[in-house]
Amino acid sequence: MKVLGIETSCDETGVAVYDTAIGGAGGLRAHAVYSQIALHAEYGGVVPELASRDHVRKLLPLVRQTLAEAGMDVRDIDGVAYTAGPGLVGALLVGAGVARSLAWALEVPAIGVHHMEGHLLAPLMEDDPPEPPFVALLVSGGHTQLVAVDAIGSYRLLGETLDDAAGEAFDKTAKMMGLPYPGGPQLAALAAQGTPGAFAFPRPMTNRPGLDFSFSGLKTQVLLAWQGSDRSEATRADIARGFEDAVVDTLAIKCARALDAAGCDTLVVAGGVGANRQLRAKLQADARRRAGRVCFPRPALCTDNGAMIAFAGALRLEAGQQADAAVHVTPRWDMASLPPLATAAGFGNGDSGLENAATR
Ligand SMILES: Nc1ncnc2c1ncn2[C@@H]1O[C@H](COP(=O)(O)OP(=O)(O)OP(=O)(O)O)[C@@H](O)[C@H]1O
Ligand SMILES: [Mg+2]
Repeated sequence: MKVLGIETSCDETGVAVYDTAIGGAGGLRAHAVYSQIALHAEYGGVVPELASRDHVRKLLPLVRQTLAEAGMDVRDIDGVAYTAGPGLVGALLVGAGVARSLAWALEVPAIGVHHMEGHLLAPLMEDDPPEPPFVALLVSGGHTQLVAVDAIGSYRLLGETLDDAAGEAFDKTAKMMGLPYPGGPQLAALAAQGTPGAFAFPRPMTNRPGLDFSFSGLKTQVLLAWQGSDRSEATRADIARGFEDAVVDTLAIKCARALDAAGCDTLVVAGGVGANRQLRAKLQADARRRAGRVCFPRPALCTDNGAMIAFAGALRLEAGQQADAAVHVTPRWDMASLPPLATAAGFGNGDSGLENAATR
């Protein structure tokens, strides 16, 4: 089954074709992402209305480009998957409207995909994919969650951030220290020049039991350190390193606890902060020590992309799920309300948790 995936939940327009055929032409046939970073940079954050309008401008050309790269005609598509939530309502509606219209015109099924399920399943597109049960660490711009994955589609939230998401903390800290938006990757690059231990920041909420996170206090500690410093380039790099080490350690400590709590030895990491080199190295070292396994998507599939939506949608479409013909989006959507995949056959009748959630 060749599934077109469309991602428009925030400030990236992502399109991909995933083919579920085993071997040969199967797998990710093509994917393209258009980032709106330059558009939002002068405002220091995403402006929702501008995001929606830019998706309108970029989505159809990107669909044509992706199909051409896959060597396919639009009529070769067997199904369409689109991000139905969570995300910005106007931005989501652009993707849902285009996806639903395409599916209707082509007379193929369409499905609304949960954006975080897309992130969570992205590592399964790589070689030698892990099989559930495993624990997933979702670390993106809007989420920091530890999720027990009992089966694909069956998710239990083990812990999450009480305030800022890890990516948000990276971005806000970078902004405080004068780095341009979005600062996460730039702060990480700066940290690579810094001296480990020159600034030691706390590892929030690690000295008490539990799997929740809090990053806003850490951000304040960094601000105080920055304001009280000589503000030289070297100091900025040292502070960036101290901040990154604190976030990475905190995430790693909670991942180890979550694996213990779930009785698992496999960790899956997804979301934009999953591209962070220090985090990848630390979790890999921890996995070796535990004789366990950690799986990441390639860095380009950590941040928002259409491939993860095509893949997650293909799994659900193949299990017999599909959305009805209306254009629905769900800006706030609990991943635990998704139906498991194994019992999904026959869910195309409008009674599925997926459809109910997506029509709210
Ligand atoms: N190398 C890196 N180190 C640290 N943070 C990074 C790195 N690369 C990307 N990020 C952060 O990842 C975030 C973007 O990731 P992603 O696209 O998955 O998030 P999002 O889609 O905005 O949020 P959500 O998926 O929760 O809606 C940004 O906060 C960015 O700063
Ligand atoms: Mg995302």
